[in-house]
Amino acid sequence: MTLDITFSKSAKKKAEALVLCVYDGRMLAGGADGADKNLQKFAKRAMEKSRTFKGKSGQSLVALLPEGGDYDYLVLLGLGDPAKLDALESEKTGGRLYALLADRSIKSAEILIDEKHEARAQIAASIGVGARLRSYSFETYKSEKKEEDKVQKPEKLNVAVSADKEAGKIYSREAPVIKGVFMARDFVNEPPNVLFPYAYANRILEALKPLGVEIEIMDDKKLKKHGFGALLAVGQGSANPPCAVIMRWNGLGKESKAAPLALVGKGVTFDTGGISLKPGPGMDEMKMDMGGSAAVVGTMLALAHRKAKVNVVGIVGIVENMPSDRAYRPADILTSYSGKTIEVLNTDAEGRLVLADALSYVQKTYKPKAIIDLATLTGAIIVALGHEYCGTFVNNEDLWAELDKASKATGEKLWRMPLDEVFKKDMESDTADLQNISKSGRDAGSCTAAGFLWHFIEKDVPWAHLDIAGTAWVKKDRETSPKFGSGFGVRLLDRWIADHYE
Ligand code: BES
Ligand code: ZN
Ligand code: ZN
Repeated sequence: MTLDITFSKSAKKKAEALVLCVYDGRMLAGGADGADKNLQKFAKRAMEKSRTFKGKSGQSLVALLPEGGDYDYLVLLGLGDPAKLDALESEKTGGRLYALLADRSIKSAEILIDEKHEARAQIAASIGVGARLRSYSFETYKSEKKEEDKVQKPEKLNVAVSADKEAGKIYSREAPVIKGVFMARDFVNEPPNVLFPYAYANRILEALKPLGVEIEIMDDKKLKKHGFGALLAVGQGSANPPCAVIMRWNGLGKESKAAPLALVGKGVTFDTGGISLKPGPGMDEMKMDMGGSAAVVGTMLALAHRKAKVNVVGIVGIVENMPSDRAYRPADILTSYSGKTIEVLNTDAEGRLVLADALSYVQKTYKPKAIIDLATLTGAIIVALGHEYCGTFVNNEDLWAELDKASKATGEKLWRMPLDEVFKKDMESDTADLQNISKSGRDAGSCTAAGFLWHFIEKDVPWAHLDIAGTAWVKKDRETSPKFGSGFGVRLLDRWIADHYE
């Protein structure tokens, strides 16, 4: 069960916990006047008696209240410096508040927003957004617990702010995007025996078609007919055949001839490495190797839910990379959709093969005005940037500026990486046109992977490649994203589209 967020002009006094905001230096924030005098006194005394709680961002204090009042608990939430309380900081605060309530099995809470703060409506909305994002959980495969063993989760958060209508409006703008984030997380968290390629394609169809997104599922026969030789090779070792799903959101109307934006995603439902088998420990995590495709599908869901006035085409290549007697092998030479031949030197460098065909197809078929691909492409990007930043390779300065802006607005952090002719050259083969791993071995692994993809980008098409191997799957809780599938990319892409193409 996820958290229900409401907004009201003043305190409703119908919750288990009252949350008051405190700034650095134990200053009760403006909204506290909305609480009754005794509660305010109690809050001040609780702060004075605490040796550690200073009101710094991230700090909190919970007290049980005497019987007979409106609430059972008082929560003092540290917000730090009010001048630094922007939308992102407020989202984090909302996420922390959810975690705190969940920790204590508090089912409902009400937070009073600082009425003196200029940005109160935005703060209120963002606290709601952050709390809701954090409330995601994936429990599909947990057996039902006995009533007495169940942990109580927060179910309701009311945000009291005089600008409740405005806050509600800002929140409603984000609600469909949160749906997209949750769907992306679900797909990443699903196990690979359930989310094998065709099952995944059907889940996409079921989710998007009712919202008016045109869906085409290309099965393996169709892929063969069209010449997706690189993608098909990756999938040929698996008993679960590969496919591609093309999603079209025509927000400018069916008749619109406007060139679409293209989103391309790597959808490897499980990456064993194939014949170049990965080591056993940690291999289970390779169920997240479809995180790029999940971000694309989640974004399409968000666009459709909010009826975005834009034309976007999404394409995801979905395959399972398995070793078997039918599997592709090192030394194989593939003919890609583009006609370029590729010598396979490592079957674990499969994502780039899937993307190559999807990128070529989308350019040839839709002539997009810009392309963004997302892929859990290289372990090397984790070495470089960890789980905090997504490595971003862009061939166009304007596109980079747009993405950088969307990144700063959503908190989905991007770090620009180099696209360089040298890396492109590193991917040329002695025997075929290209090879799928670099001549420089493992050095600059993420850059050479991007160099490989670059070979498939037509002249002058603005393109960005987002290597989300470190950010799509995070093994510890973050403020607004519980551990595992993060849904990274959905908010970023949605914002990029909204700010620059609608
Ligand atoms: N799916 C992996 C990349 C990956 C690694 C994603 C860790 C998430 C976490 C990709 O297909 C892969 O195996 N890449 C190889 C490339 C190498 C063979 C050139 C890698 O990164 O080691
Ligand atoms: Zn691989
Ligand atoms: Zn992979």
